[in-house]
Amino acid sequence: MPRKICVMTLADEYKQQLAWRSWKMAYDALPSLQGATVLDLGRGVGDQAAEFVARGARVIGVDINDELLDAARSRNLPNAIFQRADLRTPLDIDTIVDGIWCGFTAAYFPDLPIALTRWDRHVRPGGWIALTEIDNLFEHEPVSDRTAELLEAYVQDALTAGRYDFRMGRKLRGFMEQADFSVVNSLTLPDVEFSSYGPADPGVLDAWEKRFECMMLLRDFCGREFERVRREFLHCLACDEHRSKASVQCCIAVR
Ligand SMILES: C[S@@+](CC[C@H](N)C(=O)[O-])C[C@H]1O[C@@H](n2cnc3c(N)ncnc32)[C@H](O)[C@@H]1O
Repeated sequence: MPRKICVMTLADEYKQQLAWRSWKMAYDALPSLQGATVLDLGRGVGDQAAEFVARGARVIGVDINDELLDAARSRNLPNAIFQRADLRTPLDIDTIVDGIWCGFTAAYFPDLPIALTRWDRHVRPGGWIALTEIDNLFEHEPVSDRTAELLEAYVQDALTAGRYDFRMGRKLRGFMEQADFSVVNSLTLPDVEFSSYGPADPGVLDAWEKRFECMMLLRDFCGREFERVRREFLHCLACDEHRSKASVQCCIAVR
């Protein structure tokens, strides 16, 4: 079967997803942003940077993806700069910031304590770091044992290969403590897309369809079973009995 092309840009997808999050809960739990400088790691399209600026902060946003950086820059936010960088390597930033924000990006760093130690060099003594990550993206019921087994094997493969930790949400606190941070607040953020019960909102279903179209590694991993897994997962999300075991975890820590 020919592979579908992802027609919606990544930037459009991120913009659509904003309404499903509960970012305000996390923002409200942060130390005051008035006059603060925030380093925003894995910036995406700049939605959170816009909120930080609105709350009086100056933002340095970093991302590896040029399309997303262009989308962020096109907002012309005052007091915000966006630069391309690979977070797997030391950052070329000479500003010492008051806090680090990292939304849905920690999972790309299965060895998170090592990355945290690298990123922490940019935070002033007494500064803060706030990480938000999904836990158990694929854990939705009811699906067949075979589909659950395949998705679990994919999750383990991503972890073993050091690509992505699909259970990073639950590990944030432990990893932050391992990197010598003191966790001051842990929150579970309600999320319409990831942690809902019952039939998913049509927009959420559409987003999951697009996500599956773009998940080439999952497609290759599942091989001939991919179409069945995709259909079954989407049916699970749409059915009355749908239950999500996924959650969005936010952890705020200081040095
Ligand atoms: C799931 S998105 C989250 C975007 C945004 N923070 C949000 O919450 O909507 C993950 C982001 O991390 C970025 N990213 C992933 N690996 C990266 C790396 N090694 N260096 C820099 N950015 C990276 C991606 O380009 C993407 O913008």
